[in-house]
Amino acid sequence: MRKNIVAGNWKMNKTLQEGLALATELNSALIGKSLNCDVIIGTPFIHLASVASAIDTKQIGIAAQNCADKESGAYTGEVSAAMIKSTGADYVILGHSERRAYYGETFETLKDKVLLALKNNLNPIFCIGEVLAEREENRQNEVVKAQLEGSVFNLSAEDFGKIILAYEPVWAIGTGKTASPEQAQEIHAYIRSLVAQKFGNQVADNATILYGGSCNAGNAKELFTNPDVDGGLIGGASLKVADFCAIIDAF
Ligand code: 13P
Repeated sequence: MRKNIVAGNWKMNKTLQEGLALATELNSALIGKSLNCDVIIGTPFIHLASVASAIDTKQIGIAAQNCADKESGAYTGEVSAAMIKSTGADYVILGHSERRAYYGETFETLKDKVLLALKNNLNPIFCIGEVLAEREENRQNEVVKAQLEGSVFNLSAEDFGKIILAYEPVWAIGTGKTASPEQAQEIHAYIRSLVAQKFGNQVADNATILYGGSCNAGNAKELFTNPDVDGGLIGGASLKVADFCAIIDAF
């Protein structure tokens, strides 16, 4: 069954104390509510364990924002998928455009990260999306196809089924410029058609494809109404409980 999901990506924001306050406030706001979507928060590594013990992880899933491309050992400063899992997190955001752009993540490193995440029972939230120049040249389809083929189309259908996809046009991230509902639907449908070609209709039907990029309380409903938009990956608007809850309420 396809799931609707609203996931927050806190990026590099919030001290431990601030993050704990945000997570517990969100937890209180959602407690006992029956929601029409799953809710996930993607916190910095250092918050994961504390947040996991402070909130109801059945109501709010926890994601890391990255993991190492190596299993364990002499990789100073890195955090492995097994370590993330041991905090109580069940998800990991992989392939975010900021990591591709600023930390040199390639199709190959992401392929390794996805495999390690799955091996450690973490569900990857795998991000794809084009930059502005590519959109202006109408190359967005070719870009997302290469990103999928380069890092996740090697998986078995069963493993692919554990992945949440997030389409995030880079030109819409943190810019206040959102893809129009029509633009989002068009490329989400294309992404689903690629999944169907590769893994068959059932896997494609069940795939959750989130939209990310300046999604907020004002535009979430219009975006989520599209048949192939199954929720959002939310940056800035996930840092305030009222804003994030208003997006959850869009479902
Ligand atoms: P904004 O919602 O701040 O545009 O960020 C989107 C994003 O990058 C989520 O991963």
